[in-house]
Amino acid sequence: MKNSFLLNPDITFLNHGSYGACPIPVFKKYQKWQKKMESQPVQFMNKILWKNLKKSREALGGFIKCSEKDILLFPNPTMAVNNIIDNLHLSSNDEVLMTQHEYGALVRAWTHSSKKNNFKIIQQKINIPLESKEDFIKQFLSGVSINTKVIFISHITSQTALIFPIKEICSFAKKKGIITIVDGAHVPGHIDLNLREIECDYYTGACHKWLCAPKGTSFLYVREELQKNIIPQIISWGEKGEDPGPTKFLMDFQWQGTRDMSAFLSIPVAIKFVKENKWRKNHLVNKKMILDTSKMLRDLLKTESTFIGEDWTGQMVSHQLPNNSPETLMRDLWNDFSIEVPIFEWQEHKFIRVSLHYYNDISDVEKLLFALKKLLF
Ligand SMILES: Cc1ncc(COP(=O)(O)O)c(C=O)c1O
Repeated sequence: MKNSFLLNPDITFLNHGSYGACPIPVFKKYQKWQKKMESQPVQFMNKILWKNLKKSREALGGFIKCSEKDILLFPNPTMAVNNIIDNLHLSSNDEVLMTQHEYGALVRAWTHSSKKNNFKIIQQKINIPLESKEDFIKQFLSGVSINTKVIFISHITSQTALIFPIKEICSFAKKKGIITIVDGAHVPGHIDLNLREIECDYYTGACHKWLCAPKGTSFLYVREELQKNIIPQIISWGEKGEDPGPTKFLMDFQWQGTRDMSAFLSIPVAIKFVKENKWRKNHLVNKKMILDTSKMLRDLLKTESTFIGEDWTGQMVSHQLPNNSPETLMRDLWNDFSIEVPIFEWQEHKFIRVSLHYYNDISDVEKLLFALKKLLF
């Protein structure tokens, strides 16, 4: 499916996980929205926009199984999570429990708020390789105390690329009255998401990653009972604006001042694209390749995997590099072999993360292994 994407055909792109990649028909529709906006900006902003934002929320709600009224569209998960943090009003003695696998920018956001408001962050250590779900749950929940007010957890982690059992964690938290915020940045279009089955309070996901929507398309789901208590960080027209939205919640958040919302309006075409291209089947094919990649990396690098079994991974795998790998490895892979793949440090070890989507096949992985062999041994 390489021809369906705008990616340069001369490169080996193994980093869908960072910013996604947009298929040609989706990108064309996105530009069509932008042209429509410029053909009559006032009619577009004051009228056309609202009914089409509703269509986007409806299409997304159908895909992730929740009501369109419970979805706010955001450019990215960072903005979505910052908005929630500000609404929690945590204070001293309160604790926020997370794993040490959480996304760095969001750990920073929590740390910033914790310094200002004096609450405590517990980054629970989850040992790798992960093996049994029960063991994960036991390790994570041993961080709960009588002061735990919030659990913040990734559904799929960024640096370790692991799928966490968030359904069980959210059910536990609900029984204990702990607020749950799930970071599902990597989830839509990657693994199935049914928000009716997950008892979380807040869930954010990016549509520009695995769902292949244009950049700047993400969402925040807020459980209905909590909607009346949340206000946006950016105060604009809200109920006094042009948005004929059904609730104060939606009206408060949708208009954040003038901005280009064409990417939001392209969510339905992205969903259409992944459905037409059998995303679940694509997932199974890529997951099998990821499991093979994991084995090949283990054999080549002689380092341990981050997981044991088949339940922890999807279309991404992170694998530990030998400690003496050159600092220049990522740059050399790009400069000498035109391979785009992220290499980073996590918990004092170097890792390489391989993502596979529609446009990849096993020859891309073979190119990476060939290049690693040349550069490392
Ligand atoms: C797990 C996870 N959470 C949150 C984010 C935040 O994404 P953004 O920088 O687009 O807000 C990312 C980005 O890659 C991520 O991997």
